[in-house]
Amino acid sequence: MRLYRKGNMSTSVESRVRPQREIGPTGRPMPKLRDPKPLSTHGPAHIISLCNQKGGVGKTTSTINLGAALVEFGRKVLLVDFDPQGALSVGLGVNPNELEVTVYNALMERSVSADDIMIKTSAGMDLLPSNIDLSAAEVQLVGEVAREQTLKRVLDPVMNDYDFILVDCQPSLGLLTINALTAAHGVIIPLECEYFSLRGVALLIQTIDKVSERLNPQLQLEGILATMYDGRTLHGREVLTRVVQAFGDKVFHTVINRTVRFPETTVAGEPITSFATTSPGAAAYRDLAREVVARCLAV
Ligand SMILES: Nc1ncnc2c1ncn2[C@@H]1O[C@H](COP(=O)(O)OP(=O)(O)O)[C@@H](O)[C@H]1O
Ligand SMILES: [Mg+2]
Repeated sequence: MRLYRKGNMSTSVESRVRPQREIGPTGRPMPKLRDPKPLSTHGPAHIISLCNQKGGVGKTTSTINLGAALVEFGRKVLLVDFDPQGALSVGLGVNPNELEVTVYNALMERSVSADDIMIKTSAGMDLLPSNIDLSAAEVQLVGEVAREQTLKRVLDPVMNDYDFILVDCQPSLGLLTINALTAAHGVIIPLECEYFSLRGVALLIQTIDKVSERLNPQLQLEGILATMYDGRTLHGREVLTRVVQAFGDKVFHTVINRTVRFPETTVAGEPITSFATTSPGAAAYRDLAREVVARCLAV
């Protein structure tokens, strides 16, 4: 009588020797990351731009909630609203239409500094807000000297005040986004787990490569963040598998599920980490913050 199959025995021996790590939604074992250690001093900032020329993929939501999670871990965070729609500002309870000075003024007028336009938000992050004025900058910057370095020039004086600066880009690959890439150390690409999500990403990666060759050699692809994931559907799982096939280890282990809690937070004007502090969405952005800090330390 056979008591066991050989194959089964070898797995069970292995599992006794090395405890199996939980397989995450990306199909890879989940790393066990601790909370980032508290810092005794702050800065200089690691600048991350959240880019994807597709709209509605979770750039703004990820900027707010990654920022808020980093604040929970004791990091000093500045968020830059670099989209004329001003959704990041709205998401933090700021009405962009009531602002007299915004990122636009800091970009276009030498006499206006980041400190002059900065807003301290109740979420514990500082914000450089924007509104529709910023759409004019795209055209007006074209005639400027060092037009791609304008945002970098605005951020340089406040670099030592923060641990992280997150730039929420507009859905285009125009001059504003090139400015965001030129100022950054890293790029996070939020990708919606939908069928056409990979369309256009090759062009975005080409743009990142060009900026790193010509304007900003320190620029790295920090990671691909799968958003709006629904693991209950075959479709969602297939798209995520394709994303991991295409980008391998660049894909964050953390995946953001699709949930109505995110649109609710926009209406509330606060991050999910405070609006629904124990929700899975808040936990996911804390996981992402742990990964981002670990990746920064690994560089
Ligand atoms: N994980 C999610 N699940 C469900 N809805 C989401 C999620 N992330 C973002 N949303 C919603 O989708 C819309 C677009 O998200 P947003 O972050 O503004 O994208 P982008 O900045 O790329 O245009 C918003 O209404 C937002 O509340
Ligand atoms: Mg947005």
